[in-house]
Amino acid sequence: MSKLITFYNNKGGVSKTTTLFNLAVHLAESGKKILVADCDPQCNATELFLASSEEFDDPDKSLPGTSIYEALRPRFEGEVARVDVTKVELVASPIYKGLHLLRGDLEFSSAEGYLANATNQAITENVHEKNTYLAIHRLLSGIAFEHRFDYVLCDVGPSTGAITRMVVLASDGFFIPLTPDRFCSQAVRVLGRVLTEWIKRHEEIAKTFAPFKLKPFPGKPCFLGAVIQNFKVHSGTSPKVSYQRWQEKINDGLKTSKQDQVVPFLRLLKRVQISFLRQGLFLRGAAVYARHFQSGKLTYSPALTRAHKLEQESAIYPRIMIDHNILEMFYSSDQQAKLVTSCLVSEWNGTFFLNILEPKTWPVVHAAARDLFHRDSHKLAGKESAFAKHVWFENYLFASPYVKRGSKRYIPGPRLLDEKADVVRLNPAQRQKSARERMRKHEGVGDKGQRLKAKGY
Ligand SMILES: Nc1ncnc2c1ncn2[C@@H]1O[C@H](COP(=O)(O)OP(=O)(O)OP(=O)(O)O)[C@@H](O)[C@H]1O
Ligand SMILES: [Mg+2]
Repeated sequence: MSKLITFYNNKGGVSKTTTLFNLAVHLAESGKKILVADCDPQCNATELFLASSEEFDDPDKSLPGTSIYEALRPRFEGEVARVDVTKVELVASPIYKGLHLLRGDLEFSSAEGYLANATNQAITENVHEKNTYLAIHRLLSGIAFEHRFDYVLCDVGPSTGAITRMVVLASDGFFIPLTPDRFCSQAVRVLGRVLTEWIKRHEEIAKTFAPFKLKPFPGKPCFLGAVIQNFKVHSGTSPKVSYQRWQEKINDGLKTSKQDQVVPFLRLLKRVQISFLRQGLFLRGAAVYARHFQSGKLTYSPALTRAHKLEQESAIYPRIMIDHNILEMFYSSDQQAKLVTSCLVSEWNGTFFLNILEPKTWPVVHAAARDLFHRDSHKLAGKESAFAKHVWFENYLFASPYVKRGSKRYIPGPRLLDEKADVVRLNPAQRQKSARERMRKHEGVGDKGQRLKAKGY
């Protein structure tokens, strides 16, 4: 089934169009059928799409395809109850197979007035306004269905106007492209309030449609994530410090989750953790539940901050901690069987964490953890906390009911000091460090001391 996705932020110039277009090309190149719907009267997505064609720079030639405004105008002007999507001509990309465009139109800004009226009047018995209120959803989902698009990616302008409102509400989900700065941080806060208001109002409007045999659309777009981009690098290759500060603030302010997505989410985390391990990396973290939508309203949630705290305090070993509130939620809603049968949660010493072991994954995880230990063992000598991570992981593997018969532990146990013990070899890293320190003491303090000495001061 097609998905309608919008890239939205009421702050301008944050890379909405650029991100959308690059994602569209990537998806098309991966074999998906994609429509870029340019719902922004600035037409930047259209420009990106058509810039490579000769017609674009020829003033005598009109642009190909039907524009979004041309498609919707008969509805706005009351000529038809609904737009016939089979008559809307799309533009196929001459470069990327599977990529199509519903062209933007500068005149589409006139739609602000029509759609603003519809938003105000659709709750009344005025069928014309009700049909206009449904027009954008009908057009985009109708085209998606007609042409079997995998994704329709909608570009909107940086406003909270009626066009953007209808496109966001018509979508299944939205991304928020961001630049980490003060105004974006403010914009995200405004966005939360605005979207809550739109969704609430839509619920009220939608209730009035049944007597007119009109079907409203769901109007509950799902927050899919923030795309934070740092292309304004100020020096060198790292973003400026203030960007990092704002980025953290923005991250804390956004979180989404739905109860019925928790199990698939944990499953995804499990795959990620195993795949990290196979790349030779231990992963640690924390999963916390927090509602994003509450009775249709968008809310901020402190989930990231809580997850960060939990990770800092408890995830000292390579594991993903699971917050109590996830378990409580399943128990209070009588769904514990769902969580229990998923075998995704382990308990050890009163803490809960993500279980990545099952009969199929045990040998894979064992081999990856063993290889990782062998790769790092020469660096572990004398480093107790790093060593403890491997020990914990090995214990976790061998405490599992899925231990593969014949598998061996890979971390040597403690041994008694004997005459063969080479005390020097036991800790080469420390030995090297103390030798360096002895040399420094002898020659002066660090590099600066040595330079001064060389200059004869
Ligand atoms: N990753 C990037 N690297 C370099 N330049 C970028 C990047 N992303 C965006 N830009 C540039 O930043 C400018 C703004 O980007 P873009 O038009 O995508 O933002 P927008 O959010 O769609 O703006 P608007 O709100 O006006 O629609 C453009 O000139 C674009 O080329
Ligand atoms: Mg744009």
